Amino acid sequence: MATNRWNATLYDDKMSFVSGYGRGVIELLQPKPGEQILDLGCGTGDLTEQIARSGAAVTGVDLSESMIAKAKEKFPDLDFSVGDAETFRSACQFDAIFSNAALHWMKRPELVVQSIALALKPGGRLVAEFGGKGNVQAIVEGISAVLNENGFDANERNPWYFPSLGEYTSLLERAGFRVVYAIHFDRPTPLADGEAGLAQWFATFCEPFFAGMSQEVKEALAEKAIARIKPSLYSGSEWIADYKRLRVVAVKQ
Ligand code: BEZ
Repeated sequence: MATNRWNATLYDDKMSFVSGYGRGVIELLQPKPGEQILDLGCGTGDLTEQIARSGAAVTGVDLSESMIAKAKEKFPDLDFSVGDAETFRSACQFDAIFSNAALHWMKRPELVVQSIALALKPGGRLVAEFGGKGNVQAIVEGISAVLNENGFDANERNPWYFPSLGEYTSLLERAGFRVVYAIHFDRPTPLADGEAGLAQWFATFCEPFFAGMSQEVKEALAEKAIARIKPSLYSGSEWIADYKRLRVVAVKQ
């Protein structure tokens, strides 16, 4: 999983659409009172709290210490801990594992799927949404072109894993899951704050592309990348990010 140093406040203030869209994934989860549910990659806990309202017992886990600190501050009655999905092991097994907008940060998916399989009861379900093949492609291409032209290896720095539907469902099947629902769909996503929207999105999500660079170099390269992406994604009044989502429901056999 990428060790992004998240700005949890910026994430909550400007990227609230992440948990907004995630409510649709909770509808797919259909949590029930008394179920034990793991929210994998829970961020600052908004969806964990929504799931808890169903009466299920929820545990939120995230790699980012700052996200978990914020989640605990916001929801002191809920159970949150720092953990790495690639190596995560729990003492108990869960009825369901939920994950929204997190699995694409985990670049060793075989290990993540193994952790998920071990953490579920037989008959337990994985309900997840994350970036699929082609997700934020115009953004990735713009950043990559600018980094490569300036002597940085964009591929090596790219923190994201965006599999095709076939690739991810096959991975789940190999790990002993039956995939009962899978869809790969476009979700053009308007960003907040008009012309500043993509710069804020960069500040929240793109740190790994610019790791180790001076502030000056980082800002100059980000500005160039944003200018390059503008003709594709800026409408004249707002940025519409080219999100493509994968949603899956898979049952452990
Ligand atoms: C996503 O939710 O698809 C996403 C968010 C941030 C960076 C990359 C992808």
